[in-house]
Amino acid sequence: MNHPNTQNEFDVAAIRNHFPILQTSVYNLPLVYFDNAATTQKPQAVIDAITNYYSKYNANIHRGVHYLSQIASQAYDDVRIKTQKFLGAAQASEIVFVRGTTEAVNLVAATYGRQQLKAGDEILISHMEHHSNIVPWQILAQQTGAVLKVIPINKNGELDMQAFYVLCTAKTKIVSVTYVSNALGTINPVKEIIDNAHKQGAVVLIDGAQAVSHFDLDVQELNCDFFACSAHKMLGPTGIGVLYGKHHLLTQMPPYMGGGDMIQSVSFNGTTYNEVPYKFEAGTPHIEGVIAWGAALDYWQTINRAQAMQHEQSLLNYCTNQLQQIKRVKIIGTAANKCSVCSFVIEGVSNFDAGMFLDTMGIAVRTGQHCTEPLMDALGVKGTIRASFFFYNTIAEVDKLIAAVKKCIDVLAK
Ligand code: ALA
Repeated sequence: MNHPNTQNEFDVAAIRNHFPILQTSVYNLPLVYFDNAATTQKPQAVIDAITNYYSKYNANIHRGVHYLSQIASQAYDDVRIKTQKFLGAAQASEIVFVRGTTEAVNLVAATYGRQQLKAGDEILISHMEHHSNIVPWQILAQQTGAVLKVIPINKNGELDMQAFYVLCTAKTKIVSVTYVSNALGTINPVKEIIDNAHKQGAVVLIDGAQAVSHFDLDVQELNCDFFACSAHKMLGPTGIGVLYGKHHLLTQMPPYMGGGDMIQSVSFNGTTYNEVPYKFEAGTPHIEGVIAWGAALDYWQTINRAQAMQHEQSLLNYCTNQLQQIKRVKIIGTAANKCSVCSFVIEGVSNFDAGMFLDTMGIAVRTGQHCTEPLMDALGVKGTIRASFFFYNTIAEVDKLIAAVKKCIDVLAK
């Protein structure tokens, strides 16, 4: 096999030492983890941040005058500033901590959407959205009488931009699209979408769940109105994510949930709300999660981003080329602009059986519809086998996948 020579430039071996789980084995075989689009593994620094918080300064935040509460509050608030810098937001108050991308989309639909939309208004999403960027808008459409419109895709799994220009009109009030498809890896032209949607007077939410961990971006440069991402897909823990919103929009939106920390004063005559972002962070937040996300952002700074991106692209290109040479294998999603995801099907082998077979060889992939049932329908497949890469993966691991797919065909193909 003709191996791309990326590992001399990017020290993957050194990086892998930072991730304890990558040293483990499954079924007595070294783990090959290719399910990074579902969740990434965590470096020791992130794991340590959780342990440190609980062993050294566990306390509730923004509530106590005592020493531990002040340390914990400071640590939590510092991460908001780190996140602001990471996303390129203008102000830290534009960063709302939520449970993840799903909650961020639901928050915008339930607050901005319910406040602003009326019957006949249009919400525009795309055919390649994750269910979490479809269902909240369906619920909003049912509640308001707004109409949900869908940008179609072509056979390569790219947005039909001509159709987008036709569908995005003065009636469109919200456009919500994914930056990178979780199922196919397609990178969408979101800047073009944002600019045109703004010309029509719509606000734009970008689902950045699969983007933030693969390339650098800046929400001010994009000029999106809302941006959502999840910590666990970029080295951080589960249960914590970010909603970025432009300050003037967050300020005008009603709260999502009522509770502690989101209020200024409460009486039975009426309650006044705290300023943003606290207005959207009711109840004791996921303090540990935010602090560990901060550690993930610190770790991120230690990685040479340009080299990491190049390495991931080499993994994707190499895997795609190798799979294309196997009879019976068909790549699903052949967009010109892709990152980190290689989805495929095997003629004569069900996706589920292939996933189980690869698992017995220590290779973790995701199989099925990837929470994108309409996308799978549009592409005429029941689902796919999805290998998704991160900077700690190696070409040698891709070789193992290719060998396992060949063996799987030998053993299982009908
Ligand atoms: N959205 C995650 C995935 O694509 C769970 O696997």
